[in-house]
Amino acid sequence: MKPLIAPSLLSADFLELGKAIHMINQSEADWIHCDVMDGRFVPNISFGLPVIRAIKKLAQKPLDVHLMIVEPERYIAAFHDAGADMLSIHIEASIHAHRSLQQIRSLGMKAGIVLNPHTALSLLEYIVEEVDYILLMSVNPGFGGQQFIEHSYRKISELKEMLIGRGSQALIEVDGGVDVENAAKLVRHGADILVAGNAIFSADNPQEIIHQLKNCHTS
Ligand code: DX5
Ligand code: ZN
Repeated sequence: MKPLIAPSLLSADFLELGKAIHMINQSEADWIHCDVMDGRFVPNISFGLPVIRAIKKLAQKPLDVHLMIVEPERYIAAFHDAGADMLSIHIEASIHAHRSLQQIRSLGMKAGIVLNPHTALSLLEYIVEEVDYILLMSVNPGFGGQQFIEHSYRKISELKEMLIGRGSQALIEVDGGVDVENAAKLVRHGADILVAGNAIFSADNPQEIIHQLKNCHTS
């Protein structure tokens, strides 16, 4: 199976956000990954609701909104109204993750749970049924362009095994340090969705990188 590709706008030129979205619209990408950071859960601030609303006006692909914020439950309805199609929250930031995931789904969005690199898969034990996808961070969240953490391969394999054992259809999304070098190996280990920021937006031909990521399993 070809992976789903979700370019992360965090690495786009914010002065040319419209052009970046247009490029993604014309590409083989499947989703548009939007990183929302609050300067509290992560040591960086990115963009929030008004920017998501603007992106939604141009986007012809679903918006995959990754919340790196404390108390994400306070903003679930607001991100739905702003145009999120998929909404993921960090398990480390969610005291009532189970309830929040149910709320995300009840609004008609796909629900995702995110795990930091150090967070154990066992925390998923009682919420697997409530999620449409699990996002494994393969860098510490907060910044684009960081180096991929090698233990992520083992974590993906173990998660895949867990999902198969549970009869779950949840997809595995991998975020951080993904590029054309490691994409095929990630897919072989069980990744279904690849997020890539720096690899795409620092390239001379971003659409070509998206094409290579999309077709990585055959190369
Ligand atoms: C990091 C973000 C990522 C980031 C990935 O906190 O969640 O989505 O944009 O960027 P790259 O692909 O450059 O590591
Ligand atoms: Zn992200």
